Formats: sequence, C-alpha cells, structure tokens
Amino acid sequence: MANVAILGYGVVGSGVAEVLTENREGIARRSGGPIGLSYILVRRDFPDSPFRDKMVRDFSVIENDPGVDIVVEVMGGVGAAKDYTERALRAGKSVVTANKELVAEHGCELLELARANGVSYLFEASVGGGIPIIRPLSQCLAANEIEAISGILNGTTNYILTRMSKGGLSFADALKEAQEKGYAEADPTADIQGIDVCRKICILASLAFGRQVYPRQVATQGITEVTLFDQRWAEAAGFRIKLLGRALRREDGRLTVYVAPHLIPASEPLAGVEDVFNAITVRGNAVGEVMFYGQGAGKRPTASAVVADVSDIVRRGKSARPAVQWGEGAEDLVVSADGLESRWYVRLADEDACLPEGAVTVEDAPEGGSAFLMPAMSAEDLKAALGGRAAGLVLRVLD
Ligand code: HSE
Repeated sequence: MANVAILGYGVVGSGVAEVLTENREGIARRSGGPIGLSYILVRRDFPDSPFRDKMVRDFSVIENDPGVDIVVEVMGGVGAAKDYTERALRAGKSVVTANKELVAEHGCELLELARANGVSYLFEASVGGGIPIIRPLSQCLAANEIEAISGILNGTTNYILTRMSKGGLSFADALKEAQEKGYAEADPTADIQGIDVCRKICILASLAFGRQVYPRQVATQGITEVTLFDQRWAEAAGFRIKLLGRALRREDGRLTVYVAPHLIPASEPLAGVEDVFNAITVRGNAVGEVMFYGQGAGKRPTASAVVADVSDIVRRGKSARPAVQWGEGAEDLVVSADGLESRWYVRLADEDACLPEGAVTVEDAPEGGSAFLMPAMSAEDLKAALGGRAAGLVLRVLD
C-alpha cells in the first residue's frame, strides 16, 4: 500500500482526490498495488467535502508521518510550495507536481535534491494539462536529438482566441468564461501575458535540450494586443492566430526560446486546435515531426496527469533511478529570436500610412485597420523595411 498526501485543495487538488478515489481499483491494478489518500493540506475548512476527515493545516504532520510515500504538490507559486517540496524530498518522500512556475524556476535543483534522497520529482501535469508530453519527450523520444518544439500551451488563451473568433465574444467575456470553467490561473495575467506559456516552454526546453532554461531568458509576448480585426484579417488570408511557445536548437548548439502569438496557415494541424485544447509538435532528427494533442487545462485532465505520475512512482518502486534529470543553465545558452527569419504580419498604427515595399495585402480584408504580410526576413530587417512607420501589432507567420 502506498500513501499519498495532497498539498492544496483547489481545482487540481480536488480533482486528484476524486480521481484517486473513483478509479481506485484500476489505478491499483496498473500500479502494482493500492494507493491510499492519507492527508490533504488546506488553508481553510471545507465542511461539505467528502474528504474533510483527511484535511490538515500543518505540513509537518505530513512531513513527519513515515507512512506518507508520495506528496502531491498542487498549491502553485514558489514560496511555501518550494519549502514543502524540499522538506518532503529530504524526508524521503517522492513529490508529484502540477506547479509549472516552480519547475521552470527551480527544476534543476529540485531534481538534484530528489536524486540525492533516492526519490522522484515528477511533473507531467505541469505542461499540457492531461496530455502526456513530459514522459514521451524524456523516454519515448530518447533516441532523438530534438531540433524544435512548438506548442499551444495555454488553455485559457486558446479558449479566449477561439471564443472571440468563433463566438464573437469580447476579450473580457471570453476570459470570464475561461475563469468560470477553472482553466485560468488564480491571477489570469499569467495566462494572457504569456507568462504561463513561458514557464511551460522552459520546462520542455530544459527537458529536450538537457540544460535549465529560465523564464527570465525567454522573450514573452501575450495575446492582449490581438484584436478581432487581426483575427478577421488572418482568417481572410488563410491563417489562424495562436499563442505559441517555441524552443529551437541552433546550429551552434545554443537555443532560441520565445513566446508570441503567430499566424498559422489554416492547413497546419496546430491551426485547428481550439477551445481549451493544447497541442505540441516536436521535431526529432530520427522520428521527424510528432504531435501531442489534448485538454490542456481543467480539473480532471490535469488530475489525470498527476495521478499517472503517482502510479508511475508506485510501479517503479523506490529503488528506481530518476526518470528525468537536466543540468544547470547558463546565461549565454539562450539567444534572441531577432535573427530568426520568418514572414510577418503587420498592422499599422496609422491606418492611412503608405505601405512599405514588399507588403502583401489580402482581398476581402476587414474594415477598420491597415494590415499586410511581409516576406521572410529577420526582426532587424523588418524594422528597417518598415522605415519610420509605427506598427500597432507585429506577429510572425509560422511557415
Ligand atoms: N492556466 C493554465 C491554462 C492552466 O489555461 O493552460 C493549465 O496549466
């Protein structure tokens, strides 16, 4: 019998408790033994919860109980969550988390602490919600040198963009819906400004390329500047606008990692990823391109990934070597995307300004703005090509 303690009883924590309980028998069969729920660490009372008899407010109860084998950290943030994670690992308990901020900022040291204590630190749920991506990337694609990762990694923003373009909702109404459905972060700024995607692409890049990539090294642009005009224009030109996290290996071995909305040709699989769904394409030098798709946020999809990690730890047993490890980062590891050539979408701030040389417009363009595509060039060359014209929005085209 393995015993679990859950830290946090929000959207994900309550989902983990439910899934562990509801699917108890199947999970036991696939894990090689039963998995019990010992404690749930909470900050307030939940008198109506079916799990209220498991609830404690003091982490040291969990830390000092030798019967607890696995701690599930779904509190979020890097303060108490980091402290409790370190204490759990030092106490010889494996830790499973959905906390992308903590893994993106401190993954290397926490993985090392887990290794030193002979336990595991797993985080399948930190990227892509219910989509299996961490384990496939670290195990199933182990034969490959990974060349590129491009992902729609945030359910909230993909939901907002879809509801705006398909449902005609305002940005604010679409965000409200995403919050009501439990997709958004406690502070949705992290979603709409791309910070959540930044954390997730850092985790994928660290895993794929073996060195920690820190959020502060990643240029990040969210979706707050994308208007309904931009979406209508992109659709008239045969594209969809999606927020992407991208990590690319350069020929000199360094990396370009960035987050920005892109125009994606409507024929590309990523263009068809809608609502809360996420998708990640990975290009390896042996396998070519593979794609992972599924629900990227929400209670039960995320709980599914958390419980899969718990099951994996129970099945592999304490003696197993760590499933995942990466080395420390470096200041010069990540190189700006400015030199990366692509086509560009430009919406001018001044609707009446003349178009620059090379600009390609579209028939049936929507009213209310002046936009065009520019041929493939670097960001520096685009700036020169635009001359003194002020841009309202500049987005890359993913070709
Ligand atoms: N706020 C996140 C999202 C939750 O919308 O994708 C899952 O990481």
